[in-house]
Amino acid sequence: MPAVLPAGAARFVSGPKPAFRGVGGVAIYVAICVPVVCLAPCPTKSGRIYPRKALRESESFGNSHGKAAINAKHREHDTAPVDVRIVYGKDSENGARGQMSKTQEHEDLNAVIRQHSEWLAQQLHAQRESLFPPDASKKMRKFMSGEAAALLGVTDSYLRKLHLDGKGPSPELTPGNRRLYSARDIQELRVLLEKTARKAGDYLPGRRDGDHMQIIGVMNFKGGSGKTTTAAHLAQRLALSGYRVLAIDLDPQASLTALHGVQPEFDLVDGGTLYDAIRYDDPDPIRTVIRQTYIPNLDLIPGNLELMEFEHETPRALSQGNAGLFFFRVKEALAQVDGDYDVVVIDCPPQLGFLTMSALSAATGVLVTIHPEMLDVMSMSQFLRMTADLMDVIAESGADMSHDWMRYVLTRYEPADAPQNRIVAFLRTMYGDSVLNAQMLKSTAISDAGLTKQTLYEVERSAFTRSTYDRAVESLNAVNDEISQLIQKTWGRDT
Ligand SMILES: Nc1ncnc2c1ncn2[C@@H]1O[C@H](COP(=O)(O)OP(=O)(O)OP(=O)(O)O)[C@@H](O)[C@H]1O
Ligand SMILES: [Mg+2]
Repeated sequence: MPAVLPAGAARFVSGPKPAFRGVGGVAIYVAICVPVVCLAPCPTKSGRIYPRKALRESESFGNSHGKAAINAKHREHDTAPVDVRIVYGKDSENGARGQMSKTQEHEDLNAVIRQHSEWLAQQLHAQRESLFPPDASKKMRKFMSGEAAALLGVTDSYLRKLHLDGKGPSPELTPGNRRLYSARDIQELRVLLEKTARKAGDYLPGRRDGDHMQIIGVMNFKGGSGKTTTAAHLAQRLALSGYRVLAIDLDPQASLTALHGVQPEFDLVDGGTLYDAIRYDDPDPIRTVIRQTYIPNLDLIPGNLELMEFEHETPRALSQGNAGLFFFRVKEALAQVDGDYDVVVIDCPPQLGFLTMSALSAATGVLVTIHPEMLDVMSMSQFLRMTADLMDVIAESGADMSHDWMRYVLTRYEPADAPQNRIVAFLRTMYGDSVLNAQMLKSTAISDAGLTKQTLYEVERSAFTRSTYDRAVESLNAVNDEISQLIQKTWGRDT
């Protein structure tokens, strides 16, 4: 079968001519990995230093070793040090370390970048410890009775009656006699209410016999289009609504991971990402990389730089003929926990590499995030074209490309912005029902919560101006509940 160059791909590829590798009758356009390879750690004779190894070794690349250690590394791997030098400004009087213009020395760029990465990691770690002392682990806040009632779909007065009748968990009472429910209390109440529900599933909306696990890929190769924010709020809202949810961070940048209180540089030094379960060489059972979060019903597979291994190993495995149907590796790994979850939410990296393709091949539902600005929409056009071309190639191998739904979700939308409104109208006219009705509004509440690595569902309403918080949370709930309805519809239920 002749290899097919995906239309539009060339625009995204610079440098060497793209190479094609055939496997099992499938031609894969290896050049999609070029942007990924560009981010890889320093090269070695055998290829490069792997991220996990590099993470461990980075400790020995600290201040005292600096350039000497880097060059020793190069000697060890029989490669020349990278001949890129930069000059910084003059030493300051006080000699403080953490400022970038403090040395007269010529330094290798890789040493400088490594040093900066270590400073940043240390500062972020210190910040996390100061935000979440003493064990630096996150906890879910408690919910006011009105919020708990809304999550359960009952009235506040009914919830109060349950409490007064001694039914279900006892809420915490504030000095002002307000009732506070933990996320676990809410889950217990769900189980209780479901026993006397008028209709099965009124309070526990998850799968029933015959329903298939929903795997939702949140994607777009445009960086900053709101993938992680969408994925995190969706996963948390679904979990709080009673679904059993697994969130997967498939992005080496690991933002979803950090949002859930796991710091990749410190907590994942010996692996623990999905890579362990999808690698070609001796993969681990997926259960070994799943961890519980501080939210009941929500588990997480964190991500870190090691995920890049999959991008590098896949072309090698393809050329050696032992990659099999590589694009099904995520799907096959998830099949091991099919009975444990109702919904899997995958936060994809901002590129169309092998990880994203594997997520696409596993997905039963696809959410494409769009920030309604012209440049973003133009970029999405390329993303869609390349995705379709790549999926064609995969489909030619006999893979089933059917899916339950695909939707566009408008992110960081500003209703008062006329150009954005024109783009939204344009997209809605063109794509109709494929664009979610609800849109994620741009809100300082969402970005401010992100600054302390929290979602809006985690922060206290009192931390914001009420109207700001309410507006943002309403828009997030509307988006997430529309997706919940899609899930229900997929399972053949009226919503
Ligand atoms: N609705 C919103 N209102 C305000 N800020 C937002 C909103 N959604 C996302 N942001 C902010 O925009 C930035 C980018 O969002 P996010 O990280 O979710 O994008 P992404 O597509 O995952 O990025 P990447 O491609 O790098 O993975 C973040 O700082 C986030 O806090
Ligand atoms: Mg992201």
